[in-house]
Amino acid sequence: MKELKVSPIKHGTVIDHIRCGMALKVLKILGLTEEPPTDTTSVILHVQGSKGCKDIVKLENKELKKKEVNQIALISPEATINIIRDFEVVKKYRVKLPDTLVGIVKCSNPNCITNLGEPVEPKFYVESRNPLVLKCFYCNRKLEDISSNLL
Ligand code: CTP
Ligand code: ZN
Repeated sequence: MKELKVSPIKHGTVIDHIRCGMALKVLKILGLTEEPPTDTTSVILHVQGSKGCKDIVKLENKELKKKEVNQIALISPEATINIIRDFEVVKKYRVKLPDTLVGIVKCSNPNCITNLGEPVEPKFYVESRNPLVLKCFYCNRKLEDISSNLL
């Protein structure tokens, strides 16, 4: 039986060790569900590896912005970012959530100052990492559904 593999990329970014099932959210974070990619993009869902199941996203000719990496850290804290140059992994790092998040997620409290049309950017403290708990700097509300409040 011939096995079909997704090819290595030449130049770009591989987001590896994405939490199983979360690759579709990663595409959303990258804006690819609204605007299709202009370069080859591979999405591999449910790969069985030594540490269980994972997803992978391979982006030819793309670099991630800091905000995108922080958002990926919120939904998939074990993800690794691999920078590829001429088919080689030249840099590998694990996503890392900063202690405060500004302009990354929005507050779910409709009366929060950040939702009243004032020029105040949403700001959250990372109160706990495992389990992940985010608390609004302005109204103190805990953010329940993080992945649907990404900005
Ligand atoms: N990769 C790719 N194209 C390349 C090089 C690597 O798509 N030209 C992908 C690999 O398929 C893998 C990821 O980038 O999903 C990281 O590659 P590598 O560091 O070689 O793999 P591992 O050593 O298995 O990574 P880790 O230890 O982080 O699991
Ligand atoms: Zn708030």
